[in-house]
This record gives sequence, structure tokens and C-alpha cells, in this order.
Amino acid sequence: MSVPVEVDNNVILLPQTKQLIGLYSIIRDRETKRGDFVFYSDRIIRLLVEEGLNQLPVEETIIECHGGHRYKGSRFLGKICGVSIVRAGESMEMGLRDCCRSVRIGKILIQRDEETALPKLFYEKLPEDISERYVFLLDPMLATGGSAMMAVEVLLARGVKMDRIFFLNLLAAPEGIKAFRDRYPDVKIITGGIDEKLDEDKFIVPGLGDFGDRYYCI
Ligand code: PRP
Ligand code: URA
Ligand code: MG
Repeated sequence: MSVPVEVDNNVILLPQTKQLIGLYSIIRDRETKRGDFVFYSDRIIRLLVEEGLNQLPVEETIIECHGGHRYKGSRFLGKICGVSIVRAGESMEMGLRDCCRSVRIGKILIQRDEETALPKLFYEKLPEDISERYVFLLDPMLATGGSAMMAVEVLLARGVKMDRIFFLNLLAAPEGIKAFRDRYPDVKIITGGIDEKLDEDKFIVPGLGDFGDRYYCI
């Protein structure tokens, strides 16, 4: 049974434009080969990064333009970094780098046990000053939510403020969003798609299969 998801300030769903649906139609197709899967996933990732940047706080600034004309603009004053949940989350690093030159990127290696679907933490390496930064947490898939919640736990233990974490995600199951939001109501989830449900193996339905395998291996 599917759980209804409320899209609000902290669960941001990309506008479901014809273009976006077209991109998802390609990556969901089981016949799509790796080259296209990577190319079209990267296009969605870019949109997620742009929306993540759009959510950051800005302050007003006056710009002096040519001829002394003035323009009321805005600028971001804080510092950001990325943190990818290895392996699949690494696919999102380049999209972030393309938008944020020389951005710092940390890694958290979490793997879901193939039998139980429970996450296991193996490794973390994060920027020293991460507690002073806004963090873009990167993982394309949110199924049960176990992996993402474990990663948030690591970030909080390092002193990152909950409302400075932005979880960028390609595809989510309602069950994962609910579990995540109940535990971390102040973390913003930015996703491109919310599917129907999880199957008995805790895979997203209709979903797109194993993202990491399709992006890196098959
Ligand atoms: C996948 C995916 C998420 C996790 C989602 O990773 O990339 O990290 O599963 O599932 P959850 O919400 O139920 O925790 P997986 O551990 O399969 O490894 P991979 O990144 O190497 O593909
Ligand atoms: N991980 C994936 O890659 N796909 C799913 O559907 C669930 C977890
Ligand atoms: Mg993963």
C-alpha cells in the first residue's frame, strides 16, 4: 500500500514538467543502456543541484552596472560542501562541481545489506570545518530511508545543524520520505520524483532498479 506524501517547505519536489518526465522515462526504461542512463541521470542531477542552490539563504546586495546603473541583486554569504553516500551518491558529485567551483566534498560509505536492506556504515571522511557549512547530502535513491538517516546521524555528530542539511535525491519512496521526515523534520529533501511504494525487497516501485549498478556497472 502506498503512503501519501505531503509536499511542503521541507519536501521539495522538482516541477513535474514534460521535459523532466521525459528524462525519467529514459532512465526508468529497463532497456536503456548505461551511456544514456548516465547522460540523462546527469541532466536530472544538474536540476537537483540548481534547486538545492536555490534553497540557500541570500542577502540583498546592490550592484553597480555599466554607466553607473544600479541593480538590486542577491548573494549567498555562507559556505557549502557536498557529502556523497558512496557508491551511488558519487554520481552526483560532478553535477555539484559543475555549479560550485572547487567545492569541498566529503564521503560516507554506507551500504545496504542485500538480505535485510539495513544500512551499514563503513567509512566517513568529511571536511574539517563541516559544522560551519551548509551541506548538500547526495544520494540518488531514498527507499526505506535507512541509509540517508544514518548519513544524517554522522553529520549531526560532527556538529552540522539540521536545518543546514539539504538532501538531494533523484527518486524517493513515500515510506522513506515519511521515516526521514519524522526523524529529521528540519532537513530539506529535494527530490525529482516520488514513487508509489516499496516492494518486498525494499526496492522502489515502479522505480528504476539498482541505480549504482546501472550508473557504474551494467
Ligand atoms: C542504495 C542507494 C541508497 C540506498 C537506499 O545504495 O544508493 O544509498 O540503497 O536505500 P535505503 O533508503 O533503503 O537505505 P546501496 O547500499 O544499494 O549501494 P550502492 O550505493 O553501492 O548502490
Ligand atoms: N537502491 C536502489 O538503487 N534502488 C532501489 O529501488 C532501492 C535502493
Ligand atoms: Mg547507496
